[in-house]
Order: sequence, then structure tokens, then C-alpha cells
Amino acid sequence: MKKRLFILLSMALVMFAGNALAAISGAPCVECHTMHNSQNGEPMRWDGSADPASALLRAANCTGCHASATITNNGSNVIPQVDGAVYGTDTTAGGSFKWVIDGDDAKGHNVDELNIADAALGQTPPGWDETHPGAVNDDVTWAQQLSCSGTYGCHGDHDELDTFGAVQGAHHEPSDGLDGSTVGKSYRFLSGIVGVEDEDWEFTNSATDHNVYKGVARNEGGNDSADTISYLCAECHGKFHAAEGINALPSTNMSNPWLRHPTDIDMRALPASSEYQQYGLGIGGYSVEAPVALSNPVAAANADYSAEAIVTCVSCHRAHGSPYDDLLRWDYAGMEAGTTGAAVNTGCFRCHTTKDGDNSL
Ligand code: HEC
Ligand code: HEC
Ligand code: HEC
Ligand code: HEC
Ligand code: HEC
Repeated sequence: MKKRLFILLSMALVMFAGNALAAISGAPCVECHTMHNSQNGEPMRWDGSADPASALLRAANCTGCHASATITNNGSNVIPQVDGAVYGTDTTAGGSFKWVIDGDDAKGHNVDELNIADAALGQTPPGWDETHPGAVNDDVTWAQQLSCSGTYGCHGDHDELDTFGAVQGAHHEPSDGLDGSTVGKSYRFLSGIVGVEDEDWEFTNSATDHNVYKGVARNEGGNDSADTISYLCAECHGKFHAAEGINALPSTNMSNPWLRHPTDIDMRALPASSEYQQYGLGIGGYSVEAPVALSNPVAAANADYSAEAIVTCVSCHRAHGSPYDDLLRWDYAGMEAGTTGAAVNTGCFRCHTTKDGDNSL
């Protein structure tokens, strides 16, 4: 009986709650909230716990809704799921924690709600720079494991330790005209970051149907910008967003030449003869496998990548996780130089178009 009720409630949630482009709408409060966590003397939390939960919710935590065993991304449901298996089938642009949940630390971020800390990396992010202006906290060595949001997390306000405190109100805030001014008005509740959100989180996707990321073409002077998708990653992996070879801090410094793979570099500004101009099947094209950013993001259908195509951290990585080590978007081990095998024109070769065996896209 209880099980049946649970399934019915979950289904209702999937069908009626929310709208990807704006605040949650069209769903009664009772679908997600409980005032006392008690009805007819029974808990109203979906996991059956009698303890009241944060924000008076019926889920114990973020993944109680976003990695639900009873919800699968299907293109029309409205609670984006982060535990699917295949991009474009049941997994969205951010990727999936599936492999971390299954115990493979290398394939995703080890978020505390889903698994214990990464056995190889521990709690402190690789490339961590606590003096970086955007650093999420100022621990020299992290005192806590990575969480979804807050002081030790990616989403929400980093001044708030509590995961729900960090996103308070965001789910109910209209998110049209994202300007980064509040968590709800930030790209995917990533505080201060901007961009254009694909309506179904890239459940359906193509060269004209995708998220539009923000990047800046940085130069030696530094001109970093705190609202780009790569800056989000730099809030924890600061050193990897810098070009310099030594680990001098703060890691926002730039140098020439790059001694780490460039991010926030504009490929269209490179020589016309360079291999990079063949990105996206030639000028103006775009690849959802190796996405690039614009300095002024507009909706994908109108986005023009002929004048600008900026490399970002998410050009190669998926934020949550992927089937590949290091959260990569493709099988790096399969990228063999100068061959015409299955990897031709994929992965690294989306940009390094002449490094595979067929010298073009
Ligand atoms: C689809 C699920 C869902 C529905 C339906 C829903 N909420 Fe929420 N609500 C949330 C989540 C998730 C949070 C916590 C995260 C946040 O604050 O963004 C929240 C937080 C809140 C908060 C605390 C944050 C703030 O804005 O102060 C209030 C108050 C609230 N909801 C009221 C309501 C009311 C009233 C209704 C019905 C009219 C409602 N909610 C319907 C999911 C929902
Ligand atoms: C009660 C269910 C529920 C819980 C718990 C919940 N969410 Fe959500 N979340 C939703 C729904 C519904 C949406 C889609 C509507 C929307 O975009 O606001 C959503 C959307 C999101 C999005 C995507 C926003 C966008 O721009 O598309 C993020 C990021 C997110 N939630 C983070 C969190 C975090 C972090 C927590 C925990 C602190 C959390 N959620 C807890 C129901 C929930
Ligand atoms: C709030 C801090 C935080 C942010 C923001 C963050 N990361 Fe991480 N990242 C970590 C921590 C902590 C680890 C080490 C533990 C683990 O693997 O979860 C890590 C590990 C990684 C790893 C190695 C994973 C492995 O297991 O080998 C990659 C790759 C990575 N992050 C990429 C990114 C990218 C790309 C972004 C931006 C989309 C990003 N990170 C944003 C905290 C963060
Ligand atoms: C050109 C593709 C590419 C780009 C762009 C890129 N990475 Fe990586 N990243 C990789 C590869 C490949 C690895 C595997 C280790 C290596 O080759 O150094 C990796 C490894 C990592 C790791 C794990 C390091 C460890 O010790 O396990 C982190 C963290 C990381 N990247 C973060 C970032 C961040 C942050 C950015 C943006 C500032 C970024 N990456 C941009 C390809 C990329
Ligand atoms: C989104 C486009 C993009 C992707 C994907 C990409 N790169 Fe790059 N890569 C660049 C750009 C742009 C440069 C800098 C070119 C310049 O400064 O002239 C670069 C530079 C490099 C360099 C240094 C070249 C030099 O001149 O010093 C290496 C090595 C490299 N990439 C390897 C890789 C590998 C391996 C992968 C796959 C894991 C990869 N890249 C994926 C765009 C990309």
C-alpha cells in the first residue's frame, strides 16, 4: 500500500511539476512539501523517514529528487535527473553520477550524498587554489567532502554551508533573463555564472539545440571574467584555469605560451590556416560533443559561432561525470594520432582536426 502511494506521488511529480525555463509552476505545494511530515500519523517523506527535512521537503536531500530511483529523464519530465547512463537517451548536458554511485571514483565528482570521498584524490580538488578570488572556501586542505551546493559545492551561494540554504528560493525564482544577480538568476543555479539554458537540459540536442555557454577570450593581461562556465570550474580547480607553468598563486595569472591546455581562448582568432577553423565542420559550426562558448550567449537557434568559438573546461569534461575517466566527454584512450579508426573526427579531433588520419572534418 505504502509502495503504491509512493509510486503514484512520484508519477504525479514527474508529470506536473515545474518548467525548465522558469520557476516551478503548475504543481501543488503538497507534491513536494510537507508541513509536519505527518498525515494520518504516517510520514510524508518519500523515503518513509519520520524526520522532517530541509525546506519542509518530502525529499531527504537534493538527490532525493534529482537522482530518484523512480524517475528517468524522458524528455518531458521536469525534474532533471543526474544518474542516467547515456547522453541523449536518459542523461543531460551535465552528465551523470551513475558511475560514482556504482563505485568508480575516476568517472565523476564524488558528491557526499552519493558516495564516500574519492579514494585517489581525497576531499581537496586537484588544482585547488584557496587564494583564487572565486574560491568556494579558504581551506588549505578541505575539511569536508564535495557536496551539491554551498561552501563545499558547485551550485548555489558558497557563503552558505547548508546545501538547501545555498539555493534558498532558487527553485521558485523565474529564471528568464539570467544575469547572475541571484542564485535563481544564475545559469543552472551556479551562483554568478551566466549562459542560455537549453529548455530540456539537452535531452534533445543538435548543433542548433543546446546550452549556450559563456566564455571570454583571455590574453596575457589576464582579463578573466567571473561569470564564465570555466570560472565555475576554477572556483575549485583554479590552477587549471591559468596558463602559467609554475603553481604561483593566485592562479588567475596568464602567460604566453600556455603550459596547460588552453581554456577561454577563441579559436576563430587563431590563424585562418590553423586546424581549429575546421571546428564544427567549418566556420560557424558547433559540436555538442565538444562544445564551445560565446562572449555574449544567445539562444542556440540564433547563436553564431563563425566569429567566436571559445574553448572551455566543459569542451572536454562533463560537470557531473561520464562513462570515461576524468569525466571526459569521450574515450581519451581511443584518440590515436594519425589513424583513420573509429575515433576520426570525434573528441579531441573536433578541434585538432588534422591530428587524426584524414586531416579534415
Ligand atoms: C516540484 C516541487 C515543488 C513544489 C510543487 C513546490 N515547491 Fe517549494 N520548494 C521546492 C524546493 C526543491 C525547495 C528548496 C530549494 C529552494 O529553495 O530553491 C523549495 C523551497 C520553498 C520555500 C523556501 C524557500 C523560499 O523561497 O523562501 C518555500 C517558502 C516554498 N518552497 C513554498 C512553496 C509553496 C507555497 C508551494 C505551493 C504553492 C511550493 N513551494 C511548491 C520544491 C517545490
Ligand atoms: C522536491 C524536489 C527537489 C529537490 C529536493 C531539489 N530539487 Fe532541484 N529541481 C527540482 C525541480 C522540479 C526542478 C526543475 C524546475 C526548475 O528548474 O526550477 C529542479 C531544478 C534544479 C536545477 C536546474 C535549474 C535550471 O536552471 O535548470 C538545479 C541546478 C537544481 N535543481 C539543484 C538542486 C539542488 C542543489 C538541490 C539540493 C540543495 C535541489 N535541486 C533539490 C526539484 C527538486
Ligand atoms: C565546489 C568545488 C568544485 C567545482 C566547482 C568543480 N570541481 Fe572538479 N573536483 C572537485 C573535487 C573536490 C574533486 C576531487 C574529488 C572527486 O573526484 O570528486 C574534483 C575532481 C575533478 C576531476 C577529476 C575526477 C577524478 O575522479 O579523477 C575532474 C576532471 C574535475 N573535477 C573537473 C571539473 C570541471 C570540468 C569543473 C567545472 C565544470 C569542476 N570540476 C568543478 C571539486 C570541484
Ligand atoms: C582539451 C581538453 C580539456 C580541457 C579544455 C580541460 N581539460 Fe581537464 N583534463 C583533460 C584530460 C585529458 C585530463 C586527464 C589528465 C591529463 O591529461 O592531464 C584532464 C584532467 C583534469 C582533472 C583531474 C586531474 C587529476 O589530478 O586527476 C581536473 C580536475 C581537470 N581536468 C579540470 C579541468 C578544468 C578546471 C578545466 C578548465 C579550466 C579543464 N580541466 C579543461 C582534458 C581537458
Ligand atoms: C574545443 C576545442 C579543443 C578540443 C576539444 C581540444 N583542444 Fe587542444 N587545443 C585547442 C586550442 C584552441 C589550442 C591552442 C592553439 C594555439 O594556441 O594556437 C589547443 C592546444 C593543444 C595543445 C598544445 C599545442 C601547442 O601549440 O602548444 C595540445 C597538446 C592539445 N591541445 C591537445 C589536445 C588533446 C589531447 C585533446 C583531447 C583530450 C584536445 N587538445 C582537445 C582546442 C581544443
